[in-house]
Amino acid sequence: MATILAIETSCDETAVAIVKNRQVYSSIIASQIPIHQQYGGVVPEVASRQHVETINHGIAQAFQQAGLNWSEIDGIAATCAPGLVGALLVGISAAKTLAILHQKPFLGVHHLEGHIYASYLSSPDLQPPFLCLLVSGGHTSLIYVKDCGVYETLGETRDDAAGEAFDKVARLLKLGYPGGPVIDKLAKSGNPHAFPLPEGKISLPNGGFHPYDSSFSGLKTAVLRLTQRLEQEGQYPLPVNDLAASFQDTVAKALTKRAVNCALDYGLNTIAVGGGVAANSGLRKHLQEAAALHNLQVMFPPMKFCTDNAAMIGCAAADHLNRGHVSSLSLGVRSRLPL
Ligand code: KG4
Ligand code: ZN
Repeated sequence: MATILAIETSCDETAVAIVKNRQVYSSIIASQIPIHQQYGGVVPEVASRQHVETINHGIAQAFQQAGLNWSEIDGIAATCAPGLVGALLVGISAAKTLAILHQKPFLGVHHLEGHIYASYLSSPDLQPPFLCLLVSGGHTSLIYVKDCGVYETLGETRDDAAGEAFDKVARLLKLGYPGGPVIDKLAKSGNPHAFPLPEGKISLPNGGFHPYDSSFSGLKTAVLRLTQRLEQEGQYPLPVNDLAASFQDTVAKALTKRAVNCALDYGLNTIAVGGGVAANSGLRKHLQEAAALHNLQVMFPPMKFCTDNAAMIGCAAADHLNRGHVSSLSLGVRSRLPL
């Protein structure tokens, strides 16, 4: 039963947590969203500097909230990849320094493995195998979870990630950053059938389409063309609610179709959803309906575990440490790294 101090700084949240296996003792998240909002997206250099300023306070808060001391910590973990290199370096350097200082094992954790482990935090009885639909600002993946550290990526996006598409469409509709929550809110009072939009498909050499890979950049361009046409036709203000609803519905249906087909093809009866886009009400509705139709179980962890957090990193690290896995202190960070 390993107790882990975990740090996550791969993007724009400075997160620190203390986790014992699948039990969260504390989870501190200092979001930088208000800082990056003024630039319309995450500025890497600003993110790194902000992590430096916030991390020590986050570590102190995590201990205070957990009511534990250093002697009760078995290992120290940090996200090592993928992500913004400067941002990752802050977290991994802090973790390694503390590991040396307190003579504890250090564990570098892949960010996507963390998102997979978020499902265990809310459903401690969940056991592999299951399918993880990981939909965030940086990733859109269908991952066959076979065991701790044994994953097979069955589907990916070929261009924009699902969350990235939400953010880009929100920007072109002048709705601000991050785009997912605002599009989701507007879509609630919009007509999802107002504007038929194309679902991005990946062609195969044999003339068919890839069953699990997705593409969202064409959809984003279609929304751009549509808004330009509506503006030329003198539609003012733009019907943003209908545009948001139509866009969201297209993304939700595309993700649902791929996830359900993949689970059925591989004989997996559970789909665990992770990443910030798991909050999306359209995706939740479509996926739950389709899963019920096919007798599949769908799990959406609570939002605090879907978006970036350190508890999921700690949970993954605890499982690895329980199996005797540790990382070398020479482990570096990587902006890209397959799972
Ligand atoms: O997992 P996450 O916090 O960070 C990454 O690792 O990327 O995901 C952030 C992404 C953003 O693109 C944001 O727009 C999207 O999740 N998001 C949503 C919703 N809430 C957050 N997308 C759609 N609907 C939402 N309700
Ligand atoms: Zn993430």
